Amino acid sequence: MGESNKPTDMIPGYVMPTASAIEDLPNLIAAMLVDHRPSRMPFFNRVAGLPRAVASDPELLGQIHLVYQSAMHATRAAVYHLPHLDTPALRKRKLRIFIDDDGLCGGDTHHYQLTRAFRSIGAKCLLDDEEFGEPAELCHYLEAETAHFVRLAPKLYSRSLGPWCTVEVFSVDWMRALADAVSVHFPHFRNEQYFADCFAQNVEERHAAEALAVTQMVLRARPELLHETLRDAKIMAEALDGVWSHLDRIVQSAEIVQANRPVHYPQPTESGAASAWMGRADKLNA
Ligand SMILES: [Fe+2]
Repeated sequence: MGESNKPTDMIPGYVMPTASAIEDLPNLIAAMLVDHRPSRMPFFNRVAGLPRAVASDPELLGQIHLVYQSAMHATRAAVYHLPHLDTPALRKRKLRIFIDDDGLCGGDTHHYQLTRAFRSIGAKCLLDDEEFGEPAELCHYLEAETAHFVRLAPKLYSRSLGPWCTVEVFSVDWMRALADAVSVHFPHFRNEQYFADCFAQNVEERHAAEALAVTQMVLRARPELLHETLRDAKIMAEALDGVWSHLDRIVQSAEIVQANRPVHYPQPTESGAASAWMGRADKLNA
């Protein structure tokens, strides 16, 4: 291979990324992801605008929990397989991220916190916490877009650092959007530990800065990885869009079911119950 050991030297026309491109990584990623910001997706506003009767449906909340928790689970599991972080100093930094997700006080985890937050608003969760395991198994319970994300996360996370950057850069945006949307109906939701601890301690802002800083460090030593890092960051962002799109369809379906629900008119013999029923209907429509 001559004087160099780099495989890219064998590719005709290959141009090594410049040092300035690597120093500009945070801006490159931000520019690339601008069209994929989660909070721009209609799911969040649709949840905020739901009639109370729909927003508090335990089945709907259970479906939202399943999809959101599955996507989060896939990235939390995949982060254990991040490449290029093998020196003792980088392993220490990687461990810090693991601890923020899975090493919380008293044996708690972000996964458990999220389930408690949904149960606190009445969600009928479709899977128990420990049933979130292997992607292939989990996908049996998921539709196409979420299953695609769940399968893609381990594949992409283990081959480059770009998808990790995407998820960490975006996570505070979607967490705030979800907390704001659901808190319209359940004001305490944003104060649940899953959200409150992250927001108070700027956990996700720290993760975003750390993911970008560590990735830049790796790229300074191996600039030939820049292209695949950016490519995989973009693929992850597109897959994440699919998760919000599916969540939006779940909410739309719940709206349609509610709109088509037959109105029950009390029979004359039910007159005693009629006024109570009407009062209940007024509340449901409020
Ligand atoms: Fe994070």
